[in-house]
Amino acid sequence: MFMPASTSGVGNSGAAGGYAGDCVHFAAARKHRGGGSACVRHGARRERFGAEESVGGPLVRDSAPVGQAQGACFAEALPRHLHCPKAQGEQQMAVREILEIGHPTLAARAREVEVGAIGTPEVQGWVDDLLDTMRAANGAGIAANQIGIPYRLFTVEVRADNPRYPYKPPIPLTILINPTIAFLSDETFENYEGCLSVPNLRGAVIRHLEISVSGYDRDGAHQSFEVRGYSAGTFQHEKDHLDGILFPHRVVDPGTFCSWSTFSAFRQEEFANRVRQLVERWGA
Ligand code: NI
Repeated sequence: MFMPASTSGVGNSGAAGGYAGDCVHFAAARKHRGGGSACVRHGARRERFGAEESVGGPLVRDSAPVGQAQGACFAEALPRHLHCPKAQGEQQMAVREILEIGHPTLAARAREVEVGAIGTPEVQGWVDDLLDTMRAANGAGIAANQIGIPYRLFTVEVRADNPRYPYKPPIPLTILINPTIAFLSDETFENYEGCLSVPNLRGAVIRHLEISVSGYDRDGAHQSFEVRGYSAGTFQHEKDHLDGILFPHRVVDPGTFCSWSTFSAFRQEEFANRVRQLVERWGA
């Protein structure tokens, strides 16, 4: 059984808009370079990340003081935007580059988000980018450090027609900031996992079947719910990301590693049957 967290406010906030034709990040960058007003999203980001030394990745390249007009806006040091639709009636979205295994930002423990900052355009922009990137990649979930944001938040969503995971039961959109997970029993199952940050690899991981999940939604409201059954694995996978753990680290039997095509050809049918049994038993 699964009880979703609040999903209100989902979508593109457009908080940093104002320059038709730019993606939200570059609109902010242009605004920042102009020197007249603060970069709506990335001025704060520069302030927060500018002095960091322990976290690698694209977010820490620019250490210029906040508000300094000369030089490039910090937004230009962000991961490459793969899709920045121009003003042609297309909805603004920010699909970000997904970091791959071996990147130091993926290997580091992500940091807590200040609860008082959840409502800021900066954090709301992170949520929007996570949603856009997860959906564009047909992911079942994505953690912030996968798109270069070294803070503790992830999104999870499985739609019935997900082509990447056709056997997964649906999970309503869930946004969790500073998530925690507790195991409610010792019962486990073997989950064949894949990851947007680990291209073309799958492997079997042991996950708990009954968990309690807590965290804050994008409105800053504290949420606590229980997840039982196959879907519990998805939450554990995303929480692992925030602790610098990728699924290959948890694979006990290296003989289970396979590519996506060999999984589909030789292992998916048997695994999908096991998933069906779990869903019949647990409802998720
Ligand atoms: Ni992953």
